[in-house]
Amino acid sequence: MNSILERVMFKNKNVLLGVTGSISVYKAVDLASKMVQDGIDVDVVMTESATRFVTPLTFQSITHRPVHTDMWTPVTEFNIKHVSLAERANVVAIAPATANTIARIARGFADDLLECTVLSTRAPIIVAPAMDVGMYQNLVTQDNIKRIRTRGYKIVGPASGRLASGLEGPGRLAEVSEIQAAIYQFLGQSGDLAGKRIVVSAGGTQEPIDPVRYIGNYSSGKMGYAIAEAARNRGALVTLVSAATSVPPPLGIELVHARTAHQMREAIVELSLSANVLIMAAAVADYRPRDIASGKIKRKQKDLKLELTKTSDILEEVKGNLIKVGFAAESEDLLKNATGKLNAKGLHLIVANDITAPDAGFSVDTNRVVIIDRSGQADQLPLMSKSEVAHKILDRVAQLLSNTQ
Ligand code: CTP
Repeated sequence: MNSILERVMFKNKNVLLGVTGSISVYKAVDLASKMVQDGIDVDVVMTESATRFVTPLTFQSITHRPVHTDMWTPVTEFNIKHVSLAERANVVAIAPATANTIARIARGFADDLLECTVLSTRAPIIVAPAMDVGMYQNLVTQDNIKRIRTRGYKIVGPASGRLASGLEGPGRLAEVSEIQAAIYQFLGQSGDLAGKRIVVSAGGTQEPIDPVRYIGNYSSGKMGYAIAEAARNRGALVTLVSAATSVPPPLGIELVHARTAHQMREAIVELSLSANVLIMAAAVADYRPRDIASGKIKRKQKDLKLELTKTSDILEEVKGNLIKVGFAAESEDLLKNATGKLNAKGLHLIVANDITAPDAGFSVDTNRVVIIDRSGQADQLPLMSKSEVAHKILDRVAQLLSNTQ
């Protein structure tokens, strides 16, 4: 995240962050900061009790905008403050949301600026509860949460764990990344990939030799995960078919685990039937051991021969009315080899990179790629973050999708 393209994408997007009085308010500061870094205009409305935990100045310094704490301060910017805030919000997120605030909005109270704004807005509303386990499990609170959920509010969390009171159980504010994912999913609903079904594969497959060993590769999964996250933020319905990776999966997407090339093939063939786009960023093994030893192979022999057999080429096998994007990791003749793969596998685009470059390819956060299309046009991109590369690929995918409509 935080790529230039992410900032452009969220330009003119407004999130109203409602902050209520909970010890977890410090996480809301982090959430505001992350959204600002992604180019979102964040308006913060704090309840009176929230200001006891952290001052409005903290949020103001991060958002570079006035922080709103009550309805009665004279303002020059708005005529009716809660109406203006409610109208310009693309998403309203209340994080942390106390039991008290949840109870009040569940019943339509309009006693403070946050409640008035929630009552007035036409934007989607996200509520991230944070409270003590007893309060959360109380049937009154459960009933209030059920009420707002039924009304279409999205509830994120709470997480379980150790609470400020020392008790254990549900009540912790959800992780910032989880709340952020829910917000970005709503913001993406008007994105250029809105409603498109995109299947992305990522990571490196592992082909078992015996119960404790496998043949693997150095793929970290970072490129595929960046594509999945970027597509989600542009409104796509993303399914990520993931082999082994070293990074946590992005939230707000469907995750399918596929350890071996065969499992990945099964998942992708099935998912591609209803997909608009398939992007194969996974490093799929070309060969697997012909036989998998049922017990651990012992160290008895001097030499050991492994017989390998070819796996099926997933990209080539998937046919149908969908956009196919492949990757080509090459160590020589980059353009020639990549164009050969584009043609052989019937792709619309191939993203080629030179794996011998130290700042591009496996494990690192940056990549330097060439995007080649069917006409043979090669677009050489400079070194950029994997998130930026992801958006560049998706720009081309969005273009291809609009041409086929
Ligand atoms: N791929 C696939 N199924 C395989 C192997 C690769 O779908 N069994 C996909 C990869 O995910 C990638 C593209 O095909 O998007 C090219 O993969 P790459 O490993 O660069 O090429 P190969 O076709 O395996 O050819 P080679 O290894 O000989 O370069």
